[in-house]
Amino acid sequence: MLLLIGVLIGHSGSVCAWDLRVAKALGSRGDDEALARVSVISTSAEEEAGAIRMLAEEAVGPLYSGRFRYKWRAAFDLGTPNASCGKAYAAWNGSAPEDDECSLACADDSECGAYAFKRPTCQLFRACELEAGDWEVHQKLGDNRVTTTIVRLPALGIAKPPKHPKGVVIGDPCFSSRFMTCAFGEAWDTFNRTILMLNALAPDVDFFAFVGDLFYDRDGTLTRAVWDRLTPEFKRRIVVVVPGNYDFWAGGGPPGDAFDQYAWGFAQFYAQDTLASREFPFLDFDFDDDAVLKHPVRNLVFYHNIGDLGFLGYSGGPANETVDRIDWEEPCAFFNRTAPRAVFLLGHWSDASLGCDAQADTPAVRAMLSTLDGCRDIIYFDGHMHCNEIQEPDYGFNVGGHGMLPHGCSQYGFALVDSTSTRVAIDYFEERNNQTDRFDDIYDCVTRHQNRGGVANCRHFAAPWR
Ligand SMILES: *[C@@H]1O[C@H](CO)[C@@H](O)[C@H](O)[C@H]1NC(C)=O
Ligand SMILES: *[C@@H]1O[C@H](CO)[C@@H](O)[C@H](O)[C@H]1NC(C)=O
Ligand SMILES: *[C@@H]1O[C@H](CO)[C@@H](O)[C@H](O)[C@H]1NC(C)=O
Ligand SMILES: *[C@@H]1O[C@H](CO)[C@@H](O)[C@H](O)[C@H]1NC(C)=O
Ligand SMILES: *[C@@H]1O[C@H](CO)[C@@H](O)[C@H](O)[C@H]1NC(C)=O
Ligand SMILES: *[C@@H]1O[C@H](CO)[C@@H](O)[C@H](O)[C@H]1NC(C)=O
Repeated sequence: MLLLIGVLIGHSGSVCAWDLRVAKALGSRGDDEALARVSVISTSAEEEAGAIRMLAEEAVGPLYSGRFRYKWRAAFDLGTPNASCGKAYAAWNGSAPEDDECSLACADDSECGAYAFKRPTCQLFRACELEAGDWEVHQKLGDNRVTTTIVRLPALGIAKPPKHPKGVVIGDPCFSSRFMTCAFGEAWDTFNRTILMLNALAPDVDFFAFVGDLFYDRDGTLTRAVWDRLTPEFKRRIVVVVPGNYDFWAGGGPPGDAFDQYAWGFAQFYAQDTLASREFPFLDFDFDDDAVLKHPVRNLVFYHNIGDLGFLGYSGGPANETVDRIDWEEPCAFFNRTAPRAVFLLGHWSDASLGCDAQADTPAVRAMLSTLDGCRDIIYFDGHMHCNEIQEPDYGFNVGGHGMLPHGCSQYGFALVDSTSTRVAIDYFEERNNQTDRFDDIYDCVTRHQNRGGVANCRHFAAPWR
């Protein structure tokens, strides 16, 4: 039997197919509300050249383009189980229990078009017509590349955010148990549902914030599977993203191993405008610590306004100096000067555990910041604990319930931040829990009101959090 090779969508090269990221520009670039970092993730030299041409025309800052460095260097599909490719051009028995070694070897070999792994054997292929077999075969979609610069919105079909924006916040989304058990992945159909809901929400919200542990992904395959299914409209929205412990270590905590991504794949794929961009065209690619490829702290910290809302994102891991080395007065002085209606601290860790030391978790950083002008009333979102709940009344919200169970509450849902009314409202939409499945109702409501306010018309399904 011959199985057809699955070709993923999103690589056709038409303008709509650009894998865009939009992030607000770092606050220190000035108060210009229209500045944004726009990036294209591509998988071939031709696509990258097109992205460079397109972004260079709009650039008002330095342009960086290159193959992903250190981690997630190539893009693979999710894999076809029980398949084979005929004769391999290279094969060996490795020592890693999973396919990590094999996928890295294929990533770094320009001749490799697919790899197959059956413990302990790795096979590399130049090209591959799948046949029935008893291997798991991953097709290489190309090398991951990022092209990124600063533009002034509106540009490239991306709108300037409105004065009173709306946004959706989620944390710890999972669908696959490839690296970590996703308790509700299959039972709650989270792959389909997360993608359906994000795409349905996009026309009526201005930003999406993700507070870490994004798809529990070590090698980039899971992340790509999601982003290849997000619509061009979703990708023209601002994304605000901070890493969690699983974005550093697939096992959840330090010290990790050679196959962990230490948030390097993450930082390139989600392309935020961080403190590092003050001295570098994009990120600082030097390590703080060779043993664990530790990011310079400035690669994972940013602050900016989206309309009349302020955002400060940081990483609580790894280790204390993350927090000690940040000049917290700078973002707070920016907020003090620009006076947004509300300022949000985005962190991942809800407590000091698994790579996050005492005083570096989100509630602790919030408490420390609340002594500084500009940050006194800062509101935090975090994840880590897999619940969706008010963590501290009025200013602390956990949104870690999106498929995971351990340390959790068996919830799946998202928070809506809305600055359009007389106050900055936060509402929580529970799509699913052990007892009740409201996904279809919420999804129907959101799609029925699409381009006419969307989810803001569906508050009867939500719990008011603030
Ligand atoms: C692949 O084969 C295994 C047994 O070797 C079987 O358990 C599994 O269901 C098969 N998967 C698919 C997708 O056919
Ligand atoms: C790998 O080891 C298995 C036994 O575990 C052996 O059958 C196989 O031939 C070896 N393959 C290679 C490529 O060395
Ligand atoms: C997602 O939806 C597709 C198409 O309806 C279906 O084939 C697939 O089984 C669903 N995925 C899961 C995990 O249920
Ligand atoms: C971080 O600080 C805490 C207490 O403030 C201390 O117990 C811990 O050892 C420190 N960790 C590192 C890695 O320095
Ligand atoms: C914050 O702003 C207020 C009023 O605009 C000003 O009085 C105060 O000095 C500022 N604080 C800092 C730390 O700049
Ligand atoms: C939800 O169901 C899972 C699996 O049956 C169970 O382990 C978990 O404790 C339940 N959670 C709640 C809050 O009842």
